[in-house]
Formats: sequence, C-alpha cells, structure tokens
Amino acid sequence: MAQDAIQLLDADHQRVEALYKDFKAAGGNRDAQLALAQTICAELVLHAMVEEEIFYPAYAHATGDEQAVEHANKEHGELKELIAKVPQAENLDGAMEVIMRRTMHHVDEERREMFAKARASGMELATVGGRIQTRRDEVMAAVQGA
Ligand SMILES: [Fe+2]
Ligand SMILES: [Fe+2]
Repeated sequence: MAQDAIQLLDADHQRVEALYKDFKAAGGNRDAQLALAQTICAELVLHAMVEEEIFYPAYAHATGDEQAVEHANKEHGELKELIAKVPQAENLDGAMEVIMRRTMHHVDEERREMFAKARASGMELATVGGRIQTRRDEVMAAVQGA
C-alpha cells in the first residue's frame, strides 16, 4: 500500500539518519565518506524540496499554521547554505556533524509539532503522499536521465 505523506517524509528522515551512521562508521575511508556525504546532502535537498513545494503548503492550508511553515522554511534555508559548503569543507566530519545536528533538531520539530497537527487536522495525507511520490519520481528520473 502507498505510504501517506507523513510516512514518506519520516522514512526519508530515518534513511538520512541511517546514512549518517554509515558515514561515521566509514571514518578513515575518505572515498566512502565523501560518497556518503554526497548521498546524504542530495537526499536532504530533495526532501526539503518536496516539503517546500508540496507538504508545507498543504499543511498550512489544512491547519492555518503559517508560522510553523515559516520557521521550517527558514531552517531549510540555513541547512541548504551549510550543504552548499560541503564540497569545499576541509573538515568533512565537522561539516556533516553540524548539518546532522541541525537536521535532527528540525526533524524533531516536524515530528512533534507539524506531523501531530497534520494528523489531527484531517489533512488528506494519502493524496499529499501520492503527490510527493510523483514529484520525487520525476526528479529521480530527470537526474538519472541527465
Ligand atoms: Fe523539513
Ligand atoms: Fe522533514
């Protein structure tokens, strides 16, 4: 069965957490760490994009909670600035640690505040989940076709 919007987004959160564990476990293996850092950053950027384009607007519409969306967008902006600096980072471990600390803080707020309110609002989570999946598939197809 298709996952609803919250299940999809939280699966991304968990995937990134697992990838970061792999990144830490690969300490000393520079190539493996670089590849994992790249994957984590790409996952985070795609995740932020589907939230900003699809989930956050649907959430604001269903709950009227524009403030949480503004706050979340601001945190995404800060994270994207940090992610953009990763390729030049001299201390990759340190750069990724800051990104993941901020990401998990952001994820915690999404889980405790937005996801809880979204469920309580009766928002069309299955429909929104379908839109997220379609958008993600489009982007992945474009990236792989490039
Ligand atoms: Fe987010
Ligand atoms: Fe998220």
